[in-house]
Amino acid sequence: MSGIILHDMKELPDMRKACHLSRDVLRYIEQFVVEGVSTNELDDICHEYIIEHGGTSAIFNYNEFPKSICTSVNHVICHGIPGPYKLKRGDIINIDVTVIIDGWHGDTSKTFLVGRCSKLAETLVRVTERALFVGIEAVRPFGYFGDIGAAIQKFVSRTGFSIVRDYCGHGIGKVFHADPLILHYDCHKKLEQILPGMFFTIEPMLNAGSYKSKTLNDGWTTVTVDRSLSAQFEHTIAVTEDSIEVLTL
Ligand code: MF3
Ligand code: CO
Ligand code: CO
Repeated sequence: MSGIILHDMKELPDMRKACHLSRDVLRYIEQFVVEGVSTNELDDICHEYIIEHGGTSAIFNYNEFPKSICTSVNHVICHGIPGPYKLKRGDIINIDVTVIIDGWHGDTSKTFLVGRCSKLAETLVRVTERALFVGIEAVRPFGYFGDIGAAIQKFVSRTGFSIVRDYCGHGIGKVFHADPLILHYDCHKKLEQILPGMFFTIEPMLNAGSYKSKTLNDGWTTVTVDRSLSAQFEHTIAVTEDSIEVLTL
């Protein structure tokens, strides 16, 4: 017996609605991710868009997180807090959006390039997005959660980049972070079976250097220990009887 929630397919339209709003926020914010904009401004714009479209941010006040989105720049792996920092040409920035509509959570993130970036940054971002889709393609109803990390690691190992181990994907629905943990690396176990009605995220974080992470004194900002670049992409997925739906696509 696992503690993973099996949703009724009648709940899927409501879950879809939350996921589509989080997807739309990421689409909308893209035009504002330019040299000179502060991460505070990006936070304000996303917050306003979420409210205008009938949602709320799940991130604001989650364990006292002070802002509505996470903005993770360059060597920040995840959970970066929006602030006065202004984006520079050549930066990469992950924006992570989680919204709630009618109690349902939609969670997605994407790493943007700010103007022309180094070849390394461009490649890291492209490979990380590809790693997410390799993980998604490994999801089959009645397959196993271990398939996801195994597929991602097999793909990433050929690239020279490393996979962050301290942060994982997660079950989601009426709850922001639920069972199971979705590992993005190969733990050499099958883990739980993937069943119709399960909703979860896949959100690999790849580093240009060491996989090791540490959290700064603000209690949130998580960085690469060697200050190497880090990128992340995330989608929320629903498993149906005979297929899967990427809800935030
Ligand atoms: N959206 C992040 C995730 O993918 C979690 C952010 S929690 C916060 O799970 F508190 F840092 F905002
Ligand atoms: Co998530
Ligand atoms: Co997220």
